[in-house]
This record gives sequence, C-alpha cells and structure tokens, in this order.
Amino acid sequence: MSDQKPILALRGVNKSFGPIDVLHDINLEVRAGEVLCLLGDNGAGKSTLIKIMSGVHQPTSGTIEMDGQATGLPTPRAASEKGIATVHQFGGTFPLMSIGRSFFVGVEPTKGWGPFKVYDRKRANEIAVKAVQNFGITRIDDGDRLVGGLSGGERQSLAIARAVHFGARVLILDEPTAALGVKQAAHVLRIVNEAKRRGLAVIFITHQVMHAMAVGDHFAVLIRGAVAADFKKGQKTREEITDLMAGGETMANLEASIDGYMASHDGHPPAPVH
Ligand SMILES: Nc1ncnc2c1ncn2[C@@H]1O[C@H](COP(=O)(O)OP(=O)(O)OP(=O)(O)O)[C@@H](O)[C@H]1O
Ligand SMILES: [Mg+2]
Repeated sequence: MSDQKPILALRGVNKSFGPIDVLHDINLEVRAGEVLCLLGDNGAGKSTLIKIMSGVHQPTSGTIEMDGQATGLPTPRAASEKGIATVHQFGGTFPLMSIGRSFFVGVEPTKGWGPFKVYDRKRANEIAVKAVQNFGITRIDDGDRLVGGLSGGERQSLAIARAVHFGARVLILDEPTAALGVKQAAHVLRIVNEAKRRGLAVIFITHQVMHAMAVGDHFAVLIRGAVAADFKKGQKTREEITDLMAGGETMANLEASIDGYMASHDGHPPAPVH
C-alpha cells in the first residue's frame, strides 16, 4: 500500500495571515485506501490546513502535489473538480432541503448528468436513496424527507455518500464525530471505513483519540502549526497520542501546571498560545 504514489501531498507548506504564521513547513501525504488522522488541540492549525487542501486558502509557500504532480488549488471549485471533497462539521447539508435535492445541489450537469438540467425529483430521490443505502444506511428510504429531520450521524453519512457518489478521490472530514453520541459516532466511523475500502484517501480531523484509533492508518499531530509527530497505526498507544495532543506534556503535568498558574494569577487561565 505504502509503495504507491500519494494522491495528495503537501511539501514544505507554510501559511501566514499577514504577520501571523499559522502553519510551518507542513509535509503530509495521503494514499488511496488510507485514512490519515489529523490530530491537534484547538488553534493548532487543523482547519487552516484543510482549507489549503480544499482550495479555500492558498499556501504562502510550499507546494501541493496530486498524483506526484505539483498543482494549484486556486478555488474550492478547482479542488472539487480534482476530486477533493470536504465535508464540514454537521455534514455541510441544508436542513430545509429534501434528501434528493440536497444530494444534487451544486452539481452542475456534466457528462452523464444531462437529465438534471431540469431537476427530475423522482430520479434524484432514487439515486440519492440508493447511494445512501449502499453505505448501509437502510433507514433512509424516502428521498423527499427533509435533511433537517435526519440525525447528525445520518447527515454526515449522507454527505460522505454524496462525495463518494460524485467520484471524490480524497475525502476530507472536519470533526465529523464531534457532536455525535456513541452510537452515531460508531456509525460514521463505519462509513469512513467503507469509503476507505472503496479506495478513497480520507483525511479525518478529530479531537477524539479513540475515534482516530478506530479508523486511522496514519496519524499526524499538529502542535502550534507544525507537524509534531507523524506515525503509523500501532506505533503509539492511546496515552502517548493523548499526551502528544496536549503539547508533549503528560496530561497529569499539564493539569498541575494549569492549577499552579491559576492559583498564581488570581484564577485567570493562561492566555492562548499562537
Ligand atoms: N484568517 C485568519 N487570520 C488570522 N489568523 C487566523 C486565520 N485563520 C486562522 N487563524 C489562526 O490560526 C490558528 C489556527 O487556527 P485553525 O482554525 O486552523 O485551528 P484548528 O486546529 O482548526 O482549531 P480548532 O480545533 O479549534 O478548530 C489560530 O491561532 C487562528 O487564530
Ligand atoms: Mg478547526
């Protein structure tokens, strides 16, 4: 698996917003059929990084490669045309739209989709329901149902099924399990595994080490905008990963130092580090 070329790679990527350096010399690769988990605390730079990979932000320096070729992702549309699909938190769907309608939103009629120049509700519903059921979500059987009536996990699953249906090769999921209960999170993790089985490269962002460990083949921990650790499944324990995410200190040390700080600063917590 690892001898194949990465679908998407970042080489020496830096990102600054004016005087603020947010990302430093990022090197990352994702391959077909692999899940890369991007871990890191609040403000570590995870969202900025995925915005670079999805054409929302441009790197200040460094290169993006697809299939071994340097490429630009000047706009989200360009990224999506190259097969990079980003599912934002809460599924990036539209609560007041039907399942069938939301499935086809923003998909311009291209080759093979001629009939959708005029929206064909019945066909759209059929295709959407089938795509979702193919992912094992058999409870969704009516394309006229409103997306707003789906559970958080079902919405995430719909968004993932949609990306796969329209030929995504790279699937970027920004905290897809953050707001979900145990059962629903397990469901989304199963769908992530299914996307991986179908040969997509998945980039999975999470704060939850257990969720990462359930699906990840490869892990990168971001600390203050730099890749602080980069390792494969099985190379680190849950405790080691948790400690890494807390900035390399053990959680016990960290808690003690925060208590100490607050005691000596009149109960004020430390200022965030940028
Ligand atoms: N447009 C911007 N201009 C200036 N600073 C920014 C901008 N976008 C992000 N930042 C800064 O970059 C840092 C990283 O932010 P980012 O949103 O990438 O973190 P994150 O890892 O996604 O955090 P979280 O887990 O809270 O979502 C933060 O300090 C943030 O304030
Ligand atoms: Mg974020």
